[in-house]
Parts: sequence; C-alpha cells; structure tokens
Amino acid sequence: MVVNAPARGMREEFLRRALTAVSTTVDTGTLLGYEPDIGSYEHRRSASRWLARSGLDVDSGQVAICHGGRHALFVALVASLRAGEVLLPEALTYPGVKSAAQLLGITMSAVAMDAEGLVPEALEEACTSGTAPRALYRMPTAHYPTAIALSPQRRQAIADIARRHDLLIIEDDVFGLLLPDADTDIIPLAALAALAALAAERTLFLTSLSKTLAPGLRCGFLAGPPELADRLGALIRATVFNPSPRSTAVSMRWLDDGTADRLLDWQREEMARRRVAAEYLLRAHREISHVRTAALHAWMELREPWTASEMGALADGLGISISPMLYFGAVDRSVPRGVRLCLGNAPDVPTLATTIRTLLAGLDRGPTWASGTHV
Ligand SMILES: Cc1ncc(COP(=O)(O)O)c(C=O)c1O
Repeated sequence: MVVNAPARGMREEFLRRALTAVSTTVDTGTLLGYEPDIGSYEHRRSASRWLARSGLDVDSGQVAICHGGRHALFVALVASLRAGEVLLPEALTYPGVKSAAQLLGITMSAVAMDAEGLVPEALEEACTSGTAPRALYRMPTAHYPTAIALSPQRRQAIADIARRHDLLIIEDDVFGLLLPDADTDIIPLAALAALAALAAERTLFLTSLSKTLAPGLRCGFLAGPPELADRLGALIRATVFNPSPRSTAVSMRWLDDGTADRLLDWQREEMARRRVAAEYLLRAHREISHVRTAALHAWMELREPWTASEMGALADGLGISISPMLYFGAVDRSVPRGVRLCLGNAPDVPTLATTIRTLLAGLDRGPTWASGTHV
C-alpha cells in the first residue's frame, strides 16, 4: 500500500496491440531518432485535448511533453524559481517536490492546512511576512496524502492572493481525472476549476498518464502561459533532450484512438469500487476517527493514543508496506495522526479488503502490540 499506482486492468493487452500498431504505422526513423524537445506539434495537440478534460483551454503551443509527472514538476520548478528563492508547498505534500527543491537549492516554507486543505489566510501571511515567496506548489484535487479536494471558494481565494502578491502557481493534477463526475461527498468535479483556469496567466499546470493509465508510459504534460512555456523547451533539452519517442508514440496512440478513454473509464470505476470497500471497512473501526478517499488513495486519522509511526510499525510487523508520514511533512517533522493507504496495487477488491482487515485486526490489539512487533 506504499506505491500510489493505478490498478492494472487490461492495459498489458492494449500495450501489445499499440506496440504492434506503432511499429508498423510510425516511421522507424522517428521512433529511433531525436524528436523536438517539447514534442511534435501533433503530439502536443493530442496532449492539449487531453488537458481540456481537466478544464484547461490551452493551445498546443503552450504544452510540453515531459518524461512523466516528476520530470514535469522538475522542469516547472526550474522554469519558475532560482536557487535560494522560496517555494510554498502545503504543510503535507508530495515527497517528490521536497527532493527536487533540495537538489535545486530552493527554499521550502510550508503553508498551513486544515480539514478543508490549504488555508488561504495562511497563504496571505506567507506572502507578507519574511522573504517574498516566488511560487506556490499545490494539489487542489485529491491532495496527496490527505485526499482533500479544495473547495471552489478556496480555489478562488488562492488565485486572488497569488495575483495580488505576484506569486506563480505550480498546480499538480496527476489525480484529478480519477474523480467521479459528480462527487458523492460534497462538491461535483465540474465545480472544481483548475487554478490554471482561475489564474491562467501565472500557473504552470502539470499532469501525467501515470495515475490514470500506466506509470511505465513515463508521459507527462506541462502547460502554462506563453511566456513561461517558452522556457520549457530549453529545460527539457537540458534534462532529457526529448522524452522517449517510442513510449510517447504509444501514449499518443492511446490518446488518439480512444484506448486512453476506455482505460480511464475502467480505472475510475475500479477505483470507485476500491474506495467504497476501503471506506466501508475503515469507517467502522473505533480507533479511526476520520476517513477520506479520492483517486487512488485513502487517508485515515487515528484516535489517541495511536500515532502515525506506531501505525507504520504495526503495518510493518504485519508485512504490509505503508509510507511513513514523515515523508509527507513539507518542512518540519510534526506530522498528524494520519496514514495514507494506496488502494490501486492490490490485484483485486477482495485482496484489498483482506489486507485492510488484517491491518484493522492489528489496530484492535492496540499500539503496545505495534511496538512489540520489533524485537
Ligand atoms: C502528486 C504527484 N505528483 C507527481 C507525481 C509524479 O508522477 P509520475 O509518476 O508521472 O512521474 C506523483 C507520483 O507519485 C505524484 O503522486
């Protein structure tokens, strides 16, 4: 339950078909040669159509094809910040942004979150006290690890604050398309405008096909306003020259021939089944005070005296891998009493349910038992 990957489904069979088709229909010189750094015009046009599903109205000239989401994030950071400048992540964030910022010498300063996600007043304060931050890094939809979807009001407030303080936004939306059209909880997906739509002039939007289709495609998209997008080609050239043409050809074929839609529809349905099963089991347990699920993961908060590290030790002793919460703390080491469980890796719903039941049976025995698993 440690790697946040989508369920496997039929993708292997689709890959075989796509590889055969690509090897006979695409010029082998293209597959084995260098390609334009940001991707060919046709590929960027396919990517911009895919991005339209997330509510982005971007021209293919504003889109760059990257070697997966992590590469897109790295390029977005270099395009927006210099060493020593301040990046604002949420207090709990994607560990990949921490390692990239560290490599690039970017200073991280965390913005407080509450039960509804990033707190706009805390962002305002971060912009007015101390060194002026250069950019904000956010996952407004299916936040990682807490699965929060930021409300339309907070999205608008963040866009307004960013505009007032000339703050760039790096919006990471690798999970957004996995949300149901009409959210069962509170907010319909259609109401969740991307920050790239609310503050298009200052947002670099990134996503990838890793969570929706398959991580091995290593295909990511980065889109932004023309003046920021202009730098992307040079940065992609400097890092990978161009993403692998063979892999990109498969991804684009899937996007263009409808395979991506079929795989995404299946993934959404399968993950909805898994989330329902996980919520049903987790919500019933007395040691768990709160459960939230979105996209591929579940977030659960524990009652005292449990701590996240005791839960990690418990899982470890049971042979179940979960990520230590310290991974997600943006800067300081204080972490909430919460745990993220990845729901996509189990081969099927019954196996997932059995794993969760095993974890819950361990919780029944109390944290003392957890610390006793290591001798
Ligand atoms: C929030 C977030 N952003 C970006 C990425 C990177 O995606 P990719 O696997 O396409 O590199 C991940 C992958 O775990 C992620 O969880």
